[in-house]
Amino acid sequence: EKRISIAIDGPAAAGKSTVAKILAQKLSYLYIDTGAMYRALTWKALQNGIDPEDEEALDRLLTETSIELKQRNGNQRVFVDGQDVTDAIRLPEVTNAVSNVSKHERVRTEMVLRQQQFAKHGGVVMDGRDIGTHVLPEAEVKFFLRAGVEERAKRRHLENVKKGIPSDYDQLVTEIAKRDELDSNRKIAPLKKAQDAIEIDTTALSIDQVVEKMMKYVTERI
Ligand code: C5P
Repeated sequence: EKRISIAIDGPAAAGKSTVAKILAQKLSYLYIDTGAMYRALTWKALQNGIDPEDEEALDRLLTETSIELKQRNGNQRVFVDGQDVTDAIRLPEVTNAVSNVSKHERVRTEMVLRQQQFAKHGGVVMDGRDIGTHVLPEAEVKFFLRAGVEERAKRRHLENVKKGIPSDYDQLVTEIAKRDELDSNRKIAPLKKAQDAIEIDTTALSIDQVVEKMMKYVTERI
């Protein structure tokens, strides 16, 4: 059996990481959450008072920053310079600044190199915005997940409530739409379906249904 690379892209809160984790577990592959890497840099920039518009300062900061993704019993934990930032990178301050940090060419160049390093032996499920188009253009299977913005906000809201995180549905709709707009319209590697990606609209599908659809395509390739 071949250990392939699987790319999953799509807009914010489309369920990419949920299904990516399940696929990785089913296949015993490595799961790589590239959004967590941009969030990690954003978190450190905010800690250090660095302006998300300052490309040079962000690039310098990234050069001296270690970002590790560690799998712990089916879950991923994120470390910045050895410190566990898994929860901190999900805070609204980080979420609302991350699209500005990630739009810079120099930041993306370094992130893409690191992501390609993680994937160089195959056997990976990687999710993000530009995986099928830029990070792993040769991935054997590419998916592009879509869902209506209201459905995505609803899912994120329920997830927040379950975790005991304060959450406002209307605000989520606004924030998610804003982030999609920034990510889709930036100059460098915008959110875009790769021409050879399989598109799945998850609006009316359960997690299991999405995973089942994806596994059909994956098993054809391994
Ligand atoms: O996936 P997640 O929503 O955690 O990603 C956070 C942000 O990181 C995105 O809104 C986007 O600005 C950026 N990102 C990116 N390229 C990726 C993954 C994430 O620009 N491959």
